[in-house]
Amino acid sequence: MARFLITSALPYINGIKHLGNLVGSQLPADLHARYMRARGHEVMFICATDEHGTPAELAAARTGEPVADYCARMHAVQEGLARGFGLSFDHFGRSSSPQNAALTQHLAARLGAAGLIEQVAEEQVYSPADGRFLPDRYITGTCPACGYENARGDQCENCTKQLDPTDLINPRSAISGATNLEVRETRHLFLRQSALRERLDAWIDRQSGWPVLTTSIAKKWLHDGDGLQDRGITRDLDWGIPAQFDGAPWNGMEGKVFYVWFDAPIEYIAATAEWAEAHGLPDADWRRWWRTDEGADDVRYIQFMGKDNVPFHTLGFPATLMGSGEPWKLVDYIKSFNYLNYDGGQFSTSQGRGVFMDQALELLPGDYWRWWLLSHAPESGDSEFTWESFQAGVNKDLADVLGNFVSRVTKFCRTRFGETVPEGAAPDPRAQELTAALQAGLTRYEAAMDAIAIRRAAAELRALWVLGNEYLQDAAPWSTIKSDPDTAAMQIRMGLNLIRLYAVLSQPFLPDAAKRLMDALDCNDWSWPEDIAAALATLPPGHAFTVPDTLFAKITDDQRADWAARFAGTRS
Ligand code: MF3
Ligand code: ZN
Repeated sequence: MARFLITSALPYINGIKHLGNLVGSQLPADLHARYMRARGHEVMFICATDEHGTPAELAAARTGEPVADYCARMHAVQEGLARGFGLSFDHFGRSSSPQNAALTQHLAARLGAAGLIEQVAEEQVYSPADGRFLPDRYITGTCPACGYENARGDQCENCTKQLDPTDLINPRSAISGATNLEVRETRHLFLRQSALRERLDAWIDRQSGWPVLTTSIAKKWLHDGDGLQDRGITRDLDWGIPAQFDGAPWNGMEGKVFYVWFDAPIEYIAATAEWAEAHGLPDADWRRWWRTDEGADDVRYIQFMGKDNVPFHTLGFPATLMGSGEPWKLVDYIKSFNYLNYDGGQFSTSQGRGVFMDQALELLPGDYWRWWLLSHAPESGDSEFTWESFQAGVNKDLADVLGNFVSRVTKFCRTRFGETVPEGAAPDPRAQELTAALQAGLTRYEAAMDAIAIRRAAAELRALWVLGNEYLQDAAPWSTIKSDPDTAAMQIRMGLNLIRLYAVLSQPFLPDAAKRLMDALDCNDWSWPEDIAAALATLPPGHAFTVPDTLFAKITDDQRADWAARFAGTRS
């Protein structure tokens, strides 16, 4: 038994995530966590909401709530949706937790003591009417490139041009509309990442087998242009972790907070501390996952994220941990993803384009989405969600292959043998052939799952379901029973045990369906198969079961057309 620490990139608190976000971090992380637990390993699976920064402030301003209330409400919403998708976090924390504030301030103090933090004076837009500095996206104005009147200070949403607030024509405050903006000097803390460049470079070189997507992005940031830039880690905002340590403001940092990208990854650790507190456990219980001097040296730590998050996880966060001079556990493997597109365009949160997690669960239960998303995970390049593909995935894989097998075996058994596992003959050569094919297929499935090759794993799992269907078709117990009832009984006994085997093997992808199958089989033996022949004897003759309800309903053409039309536009 080994120990696996698994983290998913933390979803921003503002708003509900779309399916592209889900498949780019939380869902594949859950697949891996479930698989490793199923294999008997000790797993700590951590996620949290990323609550600080201007997006949270702006979203709260739009709903009229105090930002802390907004975050508390949205955290609960996101947690509920995570449950709906079967995400099995050991803890779903909040980056606004006291644990994160304490740890963030502690690490900043360590970095300061190591000489890795300096103060830099900058010019920034100040709004006297609002009594505050305005971050880029709090400034709107006319885009110099396309004339769009509501361009943001960081980017024009209309023509996507990257902007500086000073590029805007007629700039105004997005908070109050005030136009009397001025440029003032403000001081900020900078993390001297450049001083850690060689250590980071060497550390990345020591990692073997990282996805090309991960290392290429990291290397580009390390070596392109002037190489790794120092990074501002404070902001002139109210909402965030105060830029202080030991309870006292950092000299010159009064009223400032840490930048959201500084404190967010630290929340991976802090959320584990939140987990310990929530379970009434001592600190040692979370520290053994994170401190190499307290047991974490035998932990394997795997992160899941979209490609836009890679620089922060290959450089920024490791710089924080290395620079602290303390023995924090660094990531061992970063699984990163490309983008999922939506029906000929992009999923877009700001434009409300695509299917969002709440909407998806209103249409169908989580397993339907899990299967399609994971079997189309954007691993080697971007992939695309279309309603046709979704319908085909659900109908062909889930309903026709897995669902149909379950229904034929259980219903035939009920009709001919009653709702108990029949006794029958010993496995014949055909059954032994099936067993051998399953054993070989299992090895391939495990190899793909171990390698976190998600699409390949889905294909291998499906291939195992197909073997069962082919066996059933070929053995044809409905004909066999006429001449050789003993052999037909054996075939059905195999079939019922295969359903259990499928439940166990499919559980990481389809946790809900797997549970329903096990309930119908009145079985609670989730042990991962070593030897297929033994696994297919788990349910003994005489064991009672019930025929489960339809496992997966097919998506009709009418439904598909209806949903495609409903989600063709945008939502506000
Ligand atoms: N909230 C960020 C995003 O959605 C991800 C933060 S990951 C963290 O892109 F580790 F930094 F928290
Ligand atoms: Zn523009």
